[in-house]
Amino acid sequence: MLETLTPAQPDPILSLTIDFRQDPRENKLDLGIGVYRNSRGETPIMEAVKAAQTALAETQTTKSYVGLAGNEGFNQAMTSLLLEGTDGYSRVSTIQTPGASGALRMLADLMRVANHNTTVWISDPSYVNHRPVMEAAGLKVRHYPYFNRETKLVDLNAMLDSLSSAGKDDVVLLHGCCHNPTGADIPFEAWKRVGELAAKNGFTPFVDIAYQGFGEGLDADAKGLRYLADNLEEVLVATSCSKSFGLYRERTGAAMVIGASSERAQNAKGKLLNLARSTYTMPPDHGAAIVEMILSDAGLRKSWETEIAAMNQRIVTLRQGLATALRERVGDGRFDFIQQHKGMFSVVGFSPELVKRLKDDHAIYAVGDSRINIAGLSEARIDYLADAMVAVSDK
Ligand SMILES: Cc1ncc(COP(=O)(O)O)c(C=O)c1O
Repeated sequence: MLETLTPAQPDPILSLTIDFRQDPRENKLDLGIGVYRNSRGETPIMEAVKAAQTALAETQTTKSYVGLAGNEGFNQAMTSLLLEGTDGYSRVSTIQTPGASGALRMLADLMRVANHNTTVWISDPSYVNHRPVMEAAGLKVRHYPYFNRETKLVDLNAMLDSLSSAGKDDVVLLHGCCHNPTGADIPFEAWKRVGELAAKNGFTPFVDIAYQGFGEGLDADAKGLRYLADNLEEVLVATSCSKSFGLYRERTGAAMVIGASSERAQNAKGKLLNLARSTYTMPPDHGAAIVEMILSDAGLRKSWETEIAAMNQRIVTLRQGLATALRERVGDGRFDFIQQHKGMFSVVGFSPELVKRLKDDHAIYAVGDSRINIAGLSEARIDYLADAMVAVSDK
């Protein structure tokens, strides 16, 4: 049977990481893999997570199974973190999933069961897994224009124009904040326009929010999603604790379904649980138990909020530093978009050839579509990166 299989294509981001590890140059700089790093280049365990882990080790009395929906205390806490105060909060159901990746797949399977004709509209470009996950669930995929490669900002007119033809069999996948890979987010006004189009033409928005707290703050980053939750009957949400709690390997996330009524949301939850049963059955517990503890304990929550705000501020400062360093070198504002982008990533608009030169000539590792991880930078390396970016783009 296995003789029919051919070698798999290597994963481009993971191969980049391997190349980086093997690169002997001392000045090498890894801006590839999508994890937050502090100024020492570490992806730290957050203080609140450490404290919750210790408390959990002392107080947890069993490792028996949790239910199909995972930890319901976690589900409640995550739902209120994102949606409390909105109209949708009273008609939402949530299941814990193995990361946002698990939520994307469970919600894709749900869409397929609810309407096998569903087409999912994805931004061009989008998170590298969006398309394969949707297609693996048997859904059709279309792209809507998003990133203007000239301005490096969102082409709002093209985006809204394209979405005006989405209809009742369509689901529009939006990045809640900190668009991956580009870093270019839509303004609040555009969320309103998308909401109006959805109400008028009947498509369902699906918000993937994997970086809450990394853009403008915990509440500001959820503002667009909350507008949709307030004004629409149906919204799907995938959320992650990988970045915002630094729990990457604990595979902690949630899938939420806002329905026209709480009964409809509960029906969707029932179906999601059937789908989970036939996939991984139950999500891993540890990360969710930590998050539940942090969000329900005033002291731990404060510590977490303070730390995530500091991480956010570090990214903003790095963005400002890099944009300033580039402005000084090129004498104009052509790289100012770096300061306008949000979250860890920016697509800087370099061709694959220039990205290769960054790696070959300067030991700077960026993803092929010229996505750089700003959080992989340190204050001390800003000038080095700016010099290299100018050198390769001037050649
Ligand atoms: C937009 C987006 N969605 C989902 C994910 C998956 O996150 P998780 O680690 O929670 O599966 C990522 C991770 O990079 C992402 O960038």
